[in-house]
Formats: sequence, C-alpha cells, structure tokens
Amino acid sequence: MKKIIFLVISIFLSAKDINLSNRAAYITSECYTKTVDKNGGRHNPCYTCHINSKEPNYINDIDLQASYDFPEYATKNHWSNLFKDRSKEVAKISDKEIIKYVREDNYKNLSKRLKHLPKTWDVNHNGKWDGFIPDCNYSFDKNGFDMDKNGNPTGWVAFSYRPFLGTFWPTNGSTDDVLIRLPEKFRKDKNGKLSTKIYKENLNILKEQMRDSADNFSRYFVGLASKIRAIPRLYPKGTEFLHSVRYIDVKNGKTTMAKRMKELRYAKKTSYLTYSDLKTKDGNDYKEKDDFPDRLEVFRVGNAEKGLYTKTGWFYEGFIEDKKGELRPQNYEETLYCIGCHSGIGATTDSTFAFPRIMDWKWMGIASLMIKDKNNEYRNYLLNNHSGDEFRANDEVKNKFFKNGKPRKEAFAKLKNDISYLLFPSLKRAINLDKTYKVIVDEQSYIYGREGHIRPLDNIYKKVEQGQSTQLKPILKR
Ligand code: HEC
Ligand code: HEC
Repeated sequence: MKKIIFLVISIFLSAKDINLSNRAAYITSECYTKTVDKNGGRHNPCYTCHINSKEPNYINDIDLQASYDFPEYATKNHWSNLFKDRSKEVAKISDKEIIKYVREDNYKNLSKRLKHLPKTWDVNHNGKWDGFIPDCNYSFDKNGFDMDKNGNPTGWVAFSYRPFLGTFWPTNGSTDDVLIRLPEKFRKDKNGKLSTKIYKENLNILKEQMRDSADNFSRYFVGLASKIRAIPRLYPKGTEFLHSVRYIDVKNGKTTMAKRMKELRYAKKTSYLTYSDLKTKDGNDYKEKDDFPDRLEVFRVGNAEKGLYTKTGWFYEGFIEDKKGELRPQNYEETLYCIGCHSGIGATTDSTFAFPRIMDWKWMGIASLMIKDKNNEYRNYLLNNHSGDEFRANDEVKNKFFKNGKPRKEAFAKLKNDISYLLFPSLKRAINLDKTYKVIVDEQSYIYGREGHIRPLDNIYKKVEQGQSTQLKPILKR
C-alpha cells in the first residue's frame, strides 16, 4: 500500500514538473539585469546575493557577478510580466479605490479558512490542512512578544532589522516585517514552566550566535533547552520564521505599512544539518553543476499544502492574494520561486536573510528605520548600482541621489544619518506601486513575475548567451 501511495505521489509530482511554465522559477528575475548601459556605464546589482559566503554557507557564488552562466533552459528570461505595459490597467484604478483596498485586513480570515478547508486547497484529500496554520495575532508588547486575544503569548517575537539591499525596500513596492519563534523547549524554565525571561535570554543567545561576525565558539542555551548548543550561524531545529509582505499605506502625509498583505511567507527548520553535512551538500552541488551544467534543480519533496523542502533542512510555504484579495496557498510553481533565494545563494545565513541583520526586539515601523547607514552599506549599493533597485527602474531614487549620473553630495550626506531617506517612496509613487501590483493580482499572473511597474522594463535581457560576460569586476564584500 505504502509503495502504491509513494508511486502515486511521485507521478503526481513529476506531472507537476512537466506542467511548470517556468522550470527555472527558483532563478529570480534580478539575474537578467543588463549590467552595461548604452553609454558603457557598469552597474552591479548582483553582489547583494552572489557573494563569498560565510561558513557554514559554502556556496561562494561570487563568480556569478561576472557572467550569465545559466543552464541552457534559463538563458531565456521566463519572467514575462517584466515586459508588459501596464499603463492602461493602472489608469483604471483610482487613488481612493486603491487606498481603501490596502487598508482592508485580509489576514484574519486565513486561519479560519484553513480550518474549514476549501476542497481545492486539500492537495492530498485527507480533509485537513497539513501545512502551517497562521497563529500570530500581530499584537506585540513592548518586548516584541505577540499576544493572543486572551493575553497569552503565541511564541512569535517581532524584531527590527536593517532591510536587505534592493527589492524589499518600500520604495520598490512593499513594506514588510519578520517574526521568529523558537520551539517550546526554549520558552520554558528547567521545571517546564513557560518563562518570558528564559525565552528572551535564549533569543539573545541566538542573536549573538547568528551574527556574521560571531566567533566560532558554541555556547549552551538556558532553561529547559540547556542541553542544546547554540552553534554559530545555525538555528536550532524547529525554528520558525514568518514574513508578511504588504502594500504601502499613506496616512497623514506619510507612507506606512498597510494592513493588507500581498503575501504571508513562512519557513520552518525541520532537520539539522551540521557544518560538514552542509559542506558535503555544496560540494555535491558544485560537482553536479560541473558535470551537468544544463541540468535544472528539481525540488521534489513537498507540495502546495506542506510547502517545499530545501536541501538545507528547511521548508518554505506561502500564501498570496486570490482574485478577490483573500489569501490563498501558493501553488507548486509559485513556491518553487522561494527556494533559490533561500537555499541557493552565498548571501544567506542558514537560509535566512533578516535575523542576522537584527537591530532590536521590536516590531518594524518607519521609526525603527530612521537609523544611520552603518558601514556605508546602503551608500555603497547606490554607488555600485547607480539606482535603488536591481532593474534601475526606480527614477525617484535615481533623481534623488544622482544628477546627470553624478552623486548628489547633500543626498548622500542625508542618507548617512538616516537610511529612511532612501527606503521610503513619495506618496504618489507609493500609490502607483500599489496599483501596479494590484494589476498582477487581478490577473493572478504571479508565475510570470511579481514586481509591479507601469512601463515595460528596458534594462533586462529577454535572452542571454550562455556564459555571456557581465563585464563587471566582482565586488568582494557587501
Ligand atoms: C535577489 C538576489 C539575486 C540577485 C540580486 C541576483 N541573483 Fe542571480 N540568482 C539568484 C538566485 C536565487 C539564483 C538561483 C540559485 C540556485 O541555483 O538555487 C540565481 C542564479 C543565477 C545564475 C544561475 C546559476 C546556476 O548555477 O544555475 C546566474 C548566472 C545568475 N544568478 C547571475 C546573476 C547576475 C549576473 C546578477 C546581476 C545582474 C544576479 N544574478 C543578481 C538570486 C539573485
Ligand atoms: C528574491 C529573493 C527572495 C525570494 C524569491 C523569496 N525570498 Fe524570502 N526573503 C528574502 C529577503 C531578502 C528577506 C529579508 C527581507 C528584508 O530584508 O526585508 C526574506 C525573508 C524571508 C523570511 C523571513 C526569514 C528570513 O529569511 O529572513 C521568510 C520566512 C521568507 N523570506 C519566506 C519566503 C517564501 C515562503 C518565499 C516564496 C513565496 C520567499 N521567501 C521568496 C528574499 C527572497
């Protein structure tokens, strides 16, 4: 019986592979950016993701800054939404309409719907949802702890972080927040009683160990988890993350995080790979790439209900708006999109982006982003890329920071003291960005690209020669 079930599942999954409209959905649209402009100017948006990695990430893909070294199938850019003109559709949406839309709450019904499962969501027809059921109340106390309706902690903890470079900045379309939750063991004292103090201590131990600059010594967690070691740059098994990606709201002349979610994204670490496991995995991947340069990666384990498993011990799962704006589970191809950024590049720390960039235990808001540009990270991004987004399509940022291609001194001086000057769009741009994304929701065309824009993007290749040079000199450090 087991064998038959396995067979059916395998056939089902291979059938899915065949039906994908983009079998390379794990390779993101950013990789197709034209790095040389008409005047011979060079722009490097690649180094944020493709960079020398820090152990136990052994991917070290810095060489991808230098060439479009794609598998044959991926030399064609399958993200066709980037080439569409949206001006007509966008013009049909009024400001009033979109502002009303982004203020609606589409999160609160999601867990109810998952508990009374619509048939089409029940991939394995067992009558229940086998994936993550959102249980965060988005109601945080001053320490970032989320409380349910009865005032009990849900285990989710909010933190503020320096946003990763590029795509995720509000000026490029979305506001977002990230939450972490450790397994119950880490929230309890030695007698098995829930303790906020212990939980906070464990979170702080993890925070220290996950930094890029953490030394290579392990230490022990405390409380009921005191037998578990906190290994540098590895999370304990059972760690969960929740990432809400939202529209931009405009209130009192300011841009803020909207109530409405574009997506709710989730990840859980289900197996613990050691440094040497990870080294072997990356070594095997290198060998495979060398022997079969045109072979695409296939991620067979998982489905729309359970999410997709990476080879790094995590699974990823997401919800996205349906035509009516209600959140629905993402299908196999939509989820395949998650896997590359979270398991196939040099930039991540144990598959994640935000937590190693943590600032404080409090919920993300504009105030938490009015901070100095420590280490000139954002300045360097602008100077290397000459724009605030990978596609160099964000004219507002370009004009704010450059005049005839030359950096504006006063703008860079402002940025040094306050990165929010870069990160947040004008009200007009914010509203337009909301509208452009809504067009994709109406079409449900996420598999062709989720980035909203009005005019077709022109700094992107539709097709590259395999191995074509980018003419960039790789940047060694982010
Ligand atoms: C936002 C992150 C991001 C940026 C920015 C980015 N890439 Fe990528 N790139 C990825 C991901 C994710 C993959 C898939 C990795 C995998 O194999 O799982 C990828 C894969 C590739 C591949 C295919 C590698 C292979 O072995 O299959 C090439 C070539 C590439 N990128 C080139 C570039 C170039 C050139 C740039 C800049 C113009 C760039 N990328 C910018 C995330 C990024
Ligand atoms: C283009 C690369 C990219 C893709 C594709 C992507 N992510 Fe992420 N993800 C990021 C970045 C960057 C962050 C950090 C956000 C920030 O800095 O604002 C993040 C954050 C997260 C987090 C919080 C933990 C962490 O890594 O910091 C989760 C959970 C997550 N993503 C899940 C998903 C899921 C599920 C999908 C697919 C639906 C997905 N991601 C697709 C780049 C990506």
